[in-house]
Amino acid sequence: MRPAIIYKPIGTIHSPFKEPHDAPIQSACAGDSEGTIEIFPKYSEGLADLEGFSHIILLYHFHLSKKGVSLKVKPYLDDQLHGVFATRAPARPNAIGMSIVRLVKVEGSKLTIRDVDILDGTPLLDIKPYVPEFDLRNADKIGWFSGKTGKLPETRGDGRFYHRANVFDLLTDKYDAWYDSDEGRPLYESELRCLNPMVEDSPKPILEIGVGTGRFAMHFPDVIGIDPSLNALKMAEKRGIKTVHGDGEHLPFQDKTFGCILIIVTLCFVENPLGVLREAKRVLKKNGSMLLGIVPKDSPWGIFYEEKKKAGHPFSGSARFYTVKDIETMLHRAGLKISKIWSTLLQRPEGSRIIEEPVEGYARDAGFLCIEVKKKTEFQFSERT
Ligand SMILES: C[S@@+](CC[C@H](N)C(=O)[O-])C[C@H]1O[C@@H](n2cnc3c(N)ncnc32)[C@H](O)[C@@H]1O
Repeated sequence: MRPAIIYKPIGTIHSPFKEPHDAPIQSACAGDSEGTIEIFPKYSEGLADLEGFSHIILLYHFHLSKKGVSLKVKPYLDDQLHGVFATRAPARPNAIGMSIVRLVKVEGSKLTIRDVDILDGTPLLDIKPYVPEFDLRNADKIGWFSGKTGKLPETRGDGRFYHRANVFDLLTDKYDAWYDSDEGRPLYESELRCLNPMVEDSPKPILEIGVGTGRFAMHFPDVIGIDPSLNALKMAEKRGIKTVHGDGEHLPFQDKTFGCILIIVTLCFVENPLGVLREAKRVLKKNGSMLLGIVPKDSPWGIFYEEKKKAGHPFSGSARFYTVKDIETMLHRAGLKISKIWSTLLQRPEGSRIIEEPVEGYARDAGFLCIEVKKKTEFQFSERT
């Protein structure tokens, strides 16, 4: 396994295109659309002399594109499959995008640009000046694009290369406010009390997969949090957490990096829970622990959230809850095994909320379990509690 390379964004691109549907697919046909770039203050000195250029090359991260896609894709301009490297498709092994845009003005650390074909909120990785003497070539072959580029002006994105929208990214404030609400606070406090001793006993450093706004991570030392929601990560950063944008199915870390991996109420929201567990196992150190926080599907709380899901609740609506048996099956397939369980939320969902102390072992009616998981090959416990 080669080491992962981690880039940090130098700014954020803003554009009229809030989602992939109907966005232009090339800057050359973006029809004069205007956008702005907000460069982060620590990089703004690097903008000196840029205004002397009429065009700039932007390199950016396709933050909403699907991960783990096939190496053969059907691009917008053709109905045949082509090797991904012979296309400009956003879903690619390294989700790097490139656009040549017109530079209208530079005001401090804000750039105004035109011919924008980039989605709003896209993290910018780099800017280079466009110099026709370097970049304009007299290309005599354009492969499968031959005869197809005429369709460019009327072709628009249809979302095929993108993740389905992440509700935590769309409703971040609402989600985060739950933790401070009368309804949420006692549940959050009870869950923290359940997790705390198990995190304390685990080797370090800690990775939280699906860190969200950092409500749990903020209580533990030196956590790196990964999440696909940039809006949630912004809040987590404000809470002092080191964050990485990405998903649990494709962790940008070397094998055996972390002593403890937290996956708290996240397995039920990921597209591929088995893929997440396999990746977590890969980056877990020898004798490390994974701590899963789950709401069992068949507990009174699981049933309560399933009802909310049917009623179209935005968060429960995008969850797929699992029983402990389902989790055990997934763990088995990933080469992992349960070593310990603590339970909390024995209160009924219909009653008034109280803060609870956790109980050791698997309590059938508990609405929240903290499950400690080890690699099967290192399993030292003969009995489950
Ligand atoms: C219910 S929140 C839990 C957040 C945090 N663990 C907590 O308990 O406060 C679920 C989180 O999973 C994240 N998520 C969704 N799909 C994911 C994926 N494939 N990999 C990692 N995280 C994901 C969401 O963006 C969201 O922040």
